[in-house]
Amino acid sequence: MIDDQRAGRAGTVDSLVDPDGGDPDWLWRSGGLVPWHEARVHVNAVGHASVAAVFEGLKAYLAADGERLLVFRLDDHLRRLHQSARICRIEIPWTAEELHTAVLEVLAANGYACDVYVRPWAYPAGIIREQMVPAGLRCDVVVDSWPFRSGLADERGCRAAVSSWLRVPDASAPPRAKAFSNYHNGRLALMEARENGHDWPIMLNERLKVSEGPAACVALVRDGRVITPALTGGLLESITRDTALTLLAEADVPVEVREVDRSELYVADEIFFMGTAWEILPVRAVDGLTVGDGTPGPLTTLVRDAYMRLVRGESTGHDEWLTELRLPDRA
Ligand SMILES: Cc1ncc(COP(=O)(O)O)c(C=O)c1O
Repeated sequence: MIDDQRAGRAGTVDSLVDPDGGDPDWLWRSGGLVPWHEARVHVNAVGHASVAAVFEGLKAYLAADGERLLVFRLDDHLRRLHQSARICRIEIPWTAEELHTAVLEVLAANGYACDVYVRPWAYPAGIIREQMVPAGLRCDVVVDSWPFRSGLADERGCRAAVSSWLRVPDASAPPRAKAFSNYHNGRLALMEARENGHDWPIMLNERLKVSEGPAACVALVRDGRVITPALTGGLLESITRDTALTLLAEADVPVEVREVDRSELYVADEIFFMGTAWEILPVRAVDGLTVGDGTPGPLTTLVRDAYMRLVRGESTGHDEWLTELRLPDRA
C-alpha cells in the first residue's frame, strides 16, 4: 500500500525546541555560570572548534506532580560525553561529577518550570591556525539549555526513507563518538529525505545493513518481536535505545539485537525511532510504504507509554535514572 504523499507533516515535531521558549538567562562555561548573551568566541575559532567538538543532548522533564524537574539518565549522558572526548582525544578538565553539578546549576539558575533540553559540549578553545592538533590544546566546556515541547503525549508519526548516503563507518569517523562533525553525514541524509517529501532518513552502514537515523536509533517489530541493529553497526550508543530495550525486557517482549536488512523495513509490522530528542517516534511509512495500518502499533505504544511514565516520574523501578531538582516554592 502506498502512503498518501499529500498527508502533510502534522505530528512530526522533533521535540528539541519549544518555539515559545526564548533564550535562557544563564549557561555554564568552563567553571561557572555566564550570562547567556555574553558567552562569545572569536569568529576565527569557529571552524576548528566545530570540527573537533563533542556534545551530549539530555532532557529534564517536568514531573507529573509539577513540583520537580527530573533529569533523565544524567550520569549516563555525562559518561558518554567523556567517552566521546576520549575517542576524539579531547581532554575535558571537568569530571562527570563536576559536570553533574554544573547541569543542575544551569537548570536552577534559569528557573525552569517546564521540560528542558540540556546540551553539555566540549571544544578546543582558542584560534587554531596551522596544525589541527597544536600542543597544549585547551578545552572549553559549555552547558547550554532551552525549553522543549515533548511529543510523547501526541499521536504522532513520521515518514522515513532509506537514504542513499551511507552512515560513516567506525573506521572513518566513529558514530560511537557524539561529535558535531558526524552530523555532516546525518545532515546530508536529512536534506535528501526532505527534498523527496519524507520526514526523516534511515541510513545504511558500509555493509549495507540498517544503522540509524541522523539523531535516533531505529527498531522494528515482526511477529511480536522487536528487532534492532547491534551497537557495532555504525550507531551512537543510544541511551534511549538502552532504556527501550530495558522496558521491553521488563514487559517480557522478545528482543533481537542483530543486523537488519533494508527489505525487513518493508515487511515490518511496526517501526519506531528512539532518541533523547525524538523520544519514541513511530514511523508510519518507509520509502512510501505504509507501516502496519499507518498508526502506532501495540509495541510502539507500549514502549512510548512506559517511557513517558518513566521520564515524568510516574513509574517506579528506575529511580537511579532520575536526578531530581525541586522547583522553588512558586506560591
Ligand atoms: C546519531 C544519533 N544516534 C542516536 C541517537 C540517540 O541517542 P540517545 O538515545 O542517547 O539520545 C542520537 C541522539 O543523541 C544521535 O544523534
